[in-house]
Amino acid sequence: MPFATAAAAACSTATATACTAAAVTAPVPGPAAVSSLAEPLPVLGLDVTVPLASGHRVPYAALDQAASAPVLRQVWDEVAEYAPYYGSVHRGAGHLSRLSTELYEDARETVARFLDCREDDQVVFTRATTDSLNLLASALPAGCRVYVFETEHHAALLPWRGAEVTLLDAPGGPAAAVAALERALTAREDDGPALVCVTGASNVTGELWPVRELAAVAHAHGARIVLDAAQLAPHRPVSVRDLDVDWVALSGHKLYAPFGAGVLAGRADWLDAAEPYLAGGGASRQVVRREDGGLDVEWHTGPARHEAGSPNVVGVHALASACRALTEASPALLAEREQALLDRLTEGLAALPGVRVLSLFGDEAPRVGVVSFVVDGRDSAELAERLASSHGIGVRAGLFCAHPLVRHLLGGRRDEAAECGETGGSPLNAVRASFGVGTPVEHVDRLLSALADLIHETA
Ligand code: ALA
Repeated sequence: MPFATAAAAACSTATATACTAAAVTAPVPGPAAVSSLAEPLPVLGLDVTVPLASGHRVPYAALDQAASAPVLRQVWDEVAEYAPYYGSVHRGAGHLSRLSTELYEDARETVARFLDCREDDQVVFTRATTDSLNLLASALPAGCRVYVFETEHHAALLPWRGAEVTLLDAPGGPAAAVAALERALTAREDDGPALVCVTGASNVTGELWPVRELAAVAHAHGARIVLDAAQLAPHRPVSVRDLDVDWVALSGHKLYAPFGAGVLAGRADWLDAAEPYLAGGGASRQVVRREDGGLDVEWHTGPARHEAGSPNVVGVHALASACRALTEASPALLAEREQALLDRLTEGLAALPGVRVLSLFGDEAPRVGVVSFVVDGRDSAELAERLASSHGIGVRAGLFCAHPLVRHLLGGRRDEAAECGETGGSPLNAVRASFGVGTPVEHVDRLLSALADLIHETA
């Protein structure tokens, strides 16, 4: 069967060592001429044209990839190849059910290799990072205290409603972040369970966080740490072992596989001890009616415990396909290309009058291809709308579901902020441009020239 052959071949090419080659905090190569770099990875959508206010159509420039990234061509091809063979997972005796179950479980191994997980780590498939972190929040042991910086995305900031939360102030740099966590954990008055939640790369500034150092501090104080890798994994290899994090969460839709799957990977003990995240078929091993009329339920341990319902095998297959594609493409070459695009973008923005790039850690801090900025005297929402309607460019404007961070960066007051998802009318918002492994240089150049036009027209 062509599908089975292709899938097996693809699985065997993903090696465990490939994803450990570069550490997350490894220095990125310096500026390079983009033309001398590796080709972008093929993605869908580059030939899609969109209407402009003028009535013309232009190819869409997708520069909102921190929100959702386009589909990798390889992912799409592998999904299409599998589609005729689709069947139920873990619940069917037929050939296609068995094949689909095998594919689903192979994907778990592929993701474990991609994240360089420990032997006894669990890979639980979820819907996305928000879902993964809410799952972990539902599995916290009694009395667990959670430490989280106010600068986190809401997906990492808000799920811990059942826990005692210590909110750490926005740090001025990576060393300050490590020192702040050290202080907070030293001040802990009990030795109960504790969890630190930290992002790998900010969805607002793109800046890289000192994950390994924060993990060392957490563990030295008997705490655990979960890495929000939603923005990091699309740009850099993530090694659970090397970073020594206890869990990692990510989203397929930011990893070029927008078919509804995400991941929570890491330690099994808290997950196995917790109530199932969803109650239902697949999570239960045995359900028996008692004589008193009630139900006795024996729940699975392992990933199945938190994956009730029919699994999203298409999404999970797509996610595994993206993991293979990114690994095979050479993370070092991808990072080099990204850095060149980033340099082009930030140098171009610096040359425009009145543009201020947002940064928590300072202009020289390493970052992934995510850049937020404001333009003096201009409303960010209006700028984003003009970039779309006059130039066919898709960016995001607003507070990027990281309200405390954006307020901190813009120095604003609470009542001035727009709601997450809203962009209009607030003086407290920014424009964010973000790109990925398939972004052509022309998209960055078009953004810079469009901004120059928009700034010039009001000068
Ligand atoms: N987390 C996504 C973003 O930053 C939605 O845009």
